[in-house]
Amino acid sequence: MKTLGLLVVLGVIGSLAVDRNNFKTCEQSGFCKRLRPLKPEKSQYVLNLDTVIVHGNSLSAEVVTVDQESEKKPVLWHYALKLSALVDGTFHVELDEADPLYPRYRTQKALDGEPKPDALKLVSNEAGQLTLMNTQGHKVVITSDPLKFDFLDKNGEVAVVLNGNCQLFVEPLRTKREKVADDDEDGNGNALELDEEAWSENFKSHHDSKPRGNEAVSLDVTFPDADQVYGIPEHTDNLALSTTTSGDPYRLYNLDVFEYELDSRMSIYGSIPVVYAHGSKRTVGVFWHNSAETWVDVVNYNDATVVSSLVNLVTGGNKKKIDTRFMSESGIVDVFVMMGDTPNQVFRQYTRLTGVAEIPPKFSIGYHQSRWNYVDEADVASVHAGFDAHDIPLDVLWLDIEYTDRKKYFTWDPIKFANPTEMVANLTSKGRKLVIIIDPHIKREAGYFVHEDATAMDLYVKDKTGKIYEGWCWPGASSYLDFFNPAASAYYKERYRYENFPGTSKDVHFWNDMNEPSVFNGPEITMPKDCQHYKPPQDGQEGIASFWEHRHVHNEYGLWHIWAGHEALIERSGGKYRPFILSRAIFSGLQRYAAVWTGDNLAEWGFLAASIRMCLSLGISGVSFCGSDVGGFFQNPDAELMTRWYQAGAYQPFFRAHSHMETKRREPWLYEPATTLRIRDAVRRRYALLDLWYTLFFEHHRDGLPIMRPIFEEYPKEVEAFTIDDQYLLGQNLLVRPVVEAGATSAKVYLPGRDSGVLWYDVDSYQVHRANGYFSQDVNIGKIPVYQRGGSIVPRKERVRRATALMTNDPYTLIVALDANNTATGTIFIDDGESFDYREGKYIYARFTYDKNGITYKFIDDKSSYPTRSWVERIVVAGIKSPPKVARLRQGDVTTALLMTLHRGNDVLVVRKPGASMAQEWSIEFTY
Ligand code: NOJ
Repeated sequence: MKTLGLLVVLGVIGSLAVDRNNFKTCEQSGFCKRLRPLKPEKSQYVLNLDTVIVHGNSLSAEVVTVDQESEKKPVLWHYALKLSALVDGTFHVELDEADPLYPRYRTQKALDGEPKPDALKLVSNEAGQLTLMNTQGHKVVITSDPLKFDFLDKNGEVAVVLNGNCQLFVEPLRTKREKVADDDEDGNGNALELDEEAWSENFKSHHDSKPRGNEAVSLDVTFPDADQVYGIPEHTDNLALSTTTSGDPYRLYNLDVFEYELDSRMSIYGSIPVVYAHGSKRTVGVFWHNSAETWVDVVNYNDATVVSSLVNLVTGGNKKKIDTRFMSESGIVDVFVMMGDTPNQVFRQYTRLTGVAEIPPKFSIGYHQSRWNYVDEADVASVHAGFDAHDIPLDVLWLDIEYTDRKKYFTWDPIKFANPTEMVANLTSKGRKLVIIIDPHIKREAGYFVHEDATAMDLYVKDKTGKIYEGWCWPGASSYLDFFNPAASAYYKERYRYENFPGTSKDVHFWNDMNEPSVFNGPEITMPKDCQHYKPPQDGQEGIASFWEHRHVHNEYGLWHIWAGHEALIERSGGKYRPFILSRAIFSGLQRYAAVWTGDNLAEWGFLAASIRMCLSLGISGVSFCGSDVGGFFQNPDAELMTRWYQAGAYQPFFRAHSHMETKRREPWLYEPATTLRIRDAVRRRYALLDLWYTLFFEHHRDGLPIMRPIFEEYPKEVEAFTIDDQYLLGQNLLVRPVVEAGATSAKVYLPGRDSGVLWYDVDSYQVHRANGYFSQDVNIGKIPVYQRGGSIVPRKERVRRATALMTNDPYTLIVALDANNTATGTIFIDDGESFDYREGKYIYARFTYDKNGITYKFIDDKSSYPTRSWVERIVVAGIKSPPKVARLRQGDVTTALLMTLHRGNDVLVVRKPGASMAQEWSIEFTY
């Protein structure tokens, strides 16, 4: 993707495919090529037992590398090891050089503050092994020579092994003059460190000067008893990761990959280095806390593609396990071991470390309409009028880069968008919002205030010589704000103030794109690795120690961009309103600041299917607020694909249609009327469930669990479900199986919970299915399979209106789906939908409970309250066997007799107009 022109042309011609030549293979990535083949028989890393100190929550000790071949085992290099116990059954292992030539980079923004410690006790120190234990009963056995860590679950079984395959390496920093004289003396896994390659690398026409030489790190992690491993998004491959023995490892390097391909381990826009291993015994995880380019190998010994002889050789023929291995270009070994032991526990451990999403402003879980580009204010007006004319709800209209004055962010095109304040007022008068794009590249144009200020104040990323780096992006010649520099992020934040960006208001939110960062003429379409970022000045750190190279921070760059934007939006409203930001680049911890989408997909069925597994993988890796461009970004979806995409998107957390500028216009009414009606139906289904979505987001914020959940998360013993990634659960209560095949008349659906007799109710018909694994559901073009779990209560609002804000005071319909014991529960969260006031207790979080005696609505957090004007207009009870004769509502001192009717084969009871206010607790009593 060199220029807009090329992109446009390619977008039109069709037969789209990624140009693999633009992106490195492992062979072309110096450290991957160097480290991947290294599989020593015995690790050179040895823990010096005389140096061990256990204090508070951590152990520290010296680790050395020794020449294992030589009898005297001479010491080659010194390292500092720290192992800490953290709350929640997580351990942290850090290994750095004891005295590095310059400080090595430690990833800065992924963690949500300092992790909380747990106590760590030394249980024994004998025969060269240290055994330590946390307060939860997990143990770590450290073998000193060669160094190995075994993490034991509460039953004393080994759950995670570090360096069991001897692939721990930390390449020591060296000065350029120091040559590796011979391999024996080096001993740090640098046998392949040919001097020239150590100090520079080339890719296509790009030269990387590598001023610090080689500084890679690597570690193998084994998961005994695991059936599958998951995580390390963002890839288009299956949710359950594949064995990488043939082909390249999974790559994590944020890249703008034009026409990215499906079923691939290539990098795309995001990188989250967390892996989870799951089997019937337990679920555990490892978070590799590193922001440099990273490759991850996987060998699953259960996998039919792993040659059986290899299995026999390595495992003795009967034990299942999965080997993984992380290799990063720089940084330190910095790894969190999360002991689970259920999927929910381990996913929560990860969000304990990296944080949760803020409760999104309620409008942002509605439907978003975007296009590159709505061309002017009249276009914007006619599009949102179109939604009204066709009675399709819409919360947000989006403007892509063409709204700006010739790609200068924080400006408006003076002709096409001459009256932004009026345009926004038109939207807000209908309860709608505007989202506009701000990318991190800045147009290098004399007179453009951002460029002039950034130059004068020295706020840009530098090239390898220390001059302002100049790359090519949408505006043409561009430079990139260095958000690592506090002055740059402070300046950037100021730009978002209402007074500094006239036309914006609290109803204008932001889209941060191209923040991998994308550089059209850079190596792999990104910034050269030897570019220089700000590092806080420190005594004695001069020359190359006085800055961080882009190589160290690459995967974190976008995170800093959206962090600054997020702070800016909170500050511009004086801390009152919750911001909405959409980011394309992704790194661990992103969920604290932004939602994501899966980038420039194609209008093809395969990409619709991929959107599910991509969002599932991101969801278990902390990032729940995920969606894909509905309809596909490139190419033109036909009516069937468009319909299916809307139906799927309506059940994904972020629901936005977007398209490339050269595609045909595709607002819902541009299809024939039957399709428009189906799209309308899909969007309206989303709006009817907004309060369920909102509650799910609140519960994610509170508990750290994903919103879209793979089936195995809730049903961890169902082996058949371990690899399912074409259907999922929303929270625990809805099971969604989007139709992602052309011409489908049926869909294969897996209903989990066979052993516990779970019932699943078709949301369209209330027809009940007893969980029994796979079954075939008939579908037509108007239907995708969605089921409500028996035992759950789901709130709906059935008076769908133009936008979320207009539904605030509307009444609820409660759908009670009974389990085999005739009981059900559900929750609801209500607040003002936009401010931080919930932090002061201005909200309701309540539980509905149904049993044979009736229904109760009780506050979970009884110190909080919110004066909602919503009330209950209907309660539908599905699966009722012996309906009550009389129902009485009690709220405060008032008791009211209620009307009831029976439907279907008398197994659906409708309680009519209970009229109960949602602002206070209530109960309904049944008599039979
Ligand atoms: C790339 C983004 O992925 C796409 O969604 C957007 O339309 C273009 N940049 C133009 O801003």
